[in-house]
Amino acid sequence: MGRFEAQVGIVGAGPAGLMLSHLLHLHGISSIVLEARSRDYCEERIRAGVLEHTSVQMLRDSGVGDRLDREGLRHDGIDLGSNGVLHRIPFVELTGKHVTVYGQHEVVKDLIARRLADRGDVRFECGEVSLNNIDGSRPSISVVKNGNADEIQCDYIAGCDGFHGISRPSFPKGSLTFFERTYPFAWLGILAEAAPTRDELVYMQHDRGFALYSMRSPRITRLYLQCRPDEDISQWSDDRIWNELVTRLSCRDGWRPTEGKILQKGVTGMRSFVTEPLQFGRLFLAGDAAHIVPPTGAKGMNLAFADVHYLSEALCAFYHGNDDEALKGYSATCLKRIWKAQRFSWWMTSLLHRFENEPAFDYKRQQAELEYLASSRAAATSLAENYVGLPFEET
Ligand code: FAD
Ligand code: PHB
Repeated sequence: MGRFEAQVGIVGAGPAGLMLSHLLHLHGISSIVLEARSRDYCEERIRAGVLEHTSVQMLRDSGVGDRLDREGLRHDGIDLGSNGVLHRIPFVELTGKHVTVYGQHEVVKDLIARRLADRGDVRFECGEVSLNNIDGSRPSISVVKNGNADEIQCDYIAGCDGFHGISRPSFPKGSLTFFERTYPFAWLGILAEAAPTRDELVYMQHDRGFALYSMRSPRITRLYLQCRPDEDISQWSDDRIWNELVTRLSCRDGWRPTEGKILQKGVTGMRSFVTEPLQFGRLFLAGDAAHIVPPTGAKGMNLAFADVHYLSEALCAFYHGNDDEALKGYSATCLKRIWKAQRFSWWMTSLLHRFENEPAFDYKRQQAELEYLASSRAAATSLAENYVGLPFEET
């Protein structure tokens, strides 16, 4: 059995685990990252695309923002609409801030490259990861790598292994409370070889269901359709997908999405989920391991970054200031921001989707809310300040 040591053991090499490992390194704190999948898989997995200004700042301030600054697409607002009529929410005018469109897999590529250039210990294709002694003073992680059983001794463990990881289930029975809401729909998402023909995202409420027009680069568009939660993707030919997208997204002013070769398609379920608390003994949860938001507010990856911002600061105060107050307060500090992001993501989702057997009252209420957003600077500012990202809480 191989024995290894690090101050912090990190499970998962998604945005949360990689960013945490990188920030700890900048503070002189050692970590080992254990990832179940291959490096290629992590770098090619298409997921989120919108970075809040705080996430961009974190990437820049920590020295991994060069490619983001070259290739990221600055978006000063979004278009929000109903049945072909759009209204722009001008973020910069309302908040002084913008968001940046840069794929999550590009962020992951940049962080992996930097961790490896800094001689970071990131281990891919790890099997049978399990956590031991999390309420003792010296926890450890067991892992099988290349057929060998290894043991990583550490002071703290960060569970950054997403919603289906092993960290959350490693908490003792009864120590966690879950808050959850599932939605009666999902998103069918595609990546298409078609140059974007708008500069900003379009969120469209439509009688046939919600649709979203987004992008990844000057050559690639990313589009989503509200669909059934159990939607069978094999029933969706490329033609059927484009017909539906064009129907839902076409605007009264003549704009419609440009079609192109579909490079990838998939169905993503929608849920709101929060675990409380985020810590037991020496195990801390961060990112999707602790919470899930429906993607309508574009908050998933940004929340993961906020968690590891707080966790790295707390670990730094412990190692360099001998002060564990921030570690003790980690859960409460993160949960304030998590619940605000949950509220916003739920609100955007409820505003824009069709609900099956929706009472006519709710449909009318949605239309009134969209009109209110279009006519009130206060309402638009509330959306804008949440979308671009609330400031970090003081700790
Ligand atoms: P993850 O990115 O999930 O990373 C966790 C890592 O842990 C993974 O690499 C996983 O392989 C690894 N892991 C899991 N179990 C183990 C184990 N036992 N041992 C070792 N490693 C393990 N958000 C948006 O804002 N917009 C979107 O369009 C969007 N689309 C999404 C589509 C899908 C299919 C999913 C699942 C999520 C999507 N999200 C989206 C959410 C966003 O991608 C997440 O919030 C973000 O990935 C969270 O980062 P994370 O590091 O916490 O978790
Ligand atoms: C995306 O580009 O994948 C995207 C953008 C905005 C969202 C969700 C997903 O709200």
